Amino acid sequence: MKSHNICVLGGGGFVGSHLLPLLAARGHRIRVATSRRERCKHLLVLPGVTVVETNIHDPAALRTLCTDMDAIINLVGILHERQPGDFERAHVELPRKLLAACLACGVPQLLHMSALGAQAGSKSRYQQTKAAGESLVLAAAGATVFRPSVIFGPGDHFLTMFAKLLRFTSVVPLAGAHARFQPVFVGDVACAFADALDRPEAIAQRYDLCGPDIYTLAELLRLTATTLGLRRTVLPLGDTASYWFARLMELKPGAKIMTRDNFYAMQCDNVCTGAQPPCGPLKSFAGPPQERLGPLGGRLGGVCRAGGTTTSLASVIGYLKESDPRRAYMAFRSRAGR
Ligand SMILES: NC(=O)c1ccc[n+]([C@@H]2O[C@H](COP(=O)([O-])OP(=O)(O)OC[C@H]3O[C@@H](n4cnc5c(N)ncnc54)[C@H](OP(=O)(O)O)[C@@H]3O)[C@@H](O)[C@H]2O)c1
Repeated sequence: MKSHNICVLGGGGFVGSHLLPLLAARGHRIRVATSRRERCKHLLVLPGVTVVETNIHDPAALRTLCTDMDAIINLVGILHERQPGDFERAHVELPRKLLAACLACGVPQLLHMSALGAQAGSKSRYQQTKAAGESLVLAAAGATVFRPSVIFGPGDHFLTMFAKLLRFTSVVPLAGAHARFQPVFVGDVACAFADALDRPEAIAQRYDLCGPDIYTLAELLRLTATTLGLRRTVLPLGDTASYWFARLMELKPGAKIMTRDNFYAMQCDNVCTGAQPPCGPLKSFAGPPQERLGPLGGRLGGVCRAGGTTTSLASVIGYLKESDPRRAYMAFRSRAGR
């Protein structure tokens, strides 16, 4: 396995915190770009990792980051906008600037994180802008796109938020209760990225990343409650009630739990069928998407786990019992011998 110079954008977040130890263990030299160095303190102890505090939206800063790199990994993404235009800036404008910097610096490989369900025809701006970012990136030489369903693992946003919610309410009204997901383990997502660095056949491909099982949102919530030993009543809301619930949640001060944009995104199943969900015209790709799946070994890369098998949610969901995500992550790593 060749050692690379890699720059990771968005590396201090949930996925980055699992990917970086794997890249470091494989002997790569990694530059992590962050807007807040504080957020990346836990990465500084990893061998070969340097953290650079910078503004990645500045083209000159991006060129500096890309200098002498063999590969760039772009994990930047947001689920909620603070102000209108944030989705466009993070999912479209940033990849466009990043591609220009890669071209200027001669970076041969770009691994780009998108999301399952990204499609131009979606009513969700999150999904529309993720699709636009994918199209841009795939039109350039040397790029690979990853599209995970919801990602689980220590420090995740989704199930951990459910766990927090369930601890202080006994009846949970649930918008989009029947939306289906195929959650994928963060360790498997990290493997797919790390493996792609050494697979020339991954270039110009996009990979849908899913775990082995499909759950409705209501099933995920009930599974979380059971794991925590809590008896909770889930009240599935119909479409109209879900819309107004999401609208109401938008008005809530503090961290966003749900928005109308999330509601629109949940109108489509978030599962790996090999075909695009039947929610809108597929405008951004020339050929059927399933033609672009495959060479990494099925849905995911096969080097990290023998046979390319993926981790089930049921087998690792115990991490939710740990209330501090950082401690959960450390405990998980030590159990895994890493
Ligand atoms: N988690 C999931 O279930 C899931 C599912 C599908 C797709 N994805 C995609 O996977 C990627 C990583 O997800 P994650 O869960 O690791 O997210 P995360 O924990 O929120 O981390 C994302 C990172 O992106 C950077 N970032 C966020 N907004 C930015 C902005 N406007 N400008 C510049 N940098 C910004 C932040 O870096 P700094 O704070 O260090 O600057 C942050 O560490 C995202 O693209 C996301 O859309 C995630």
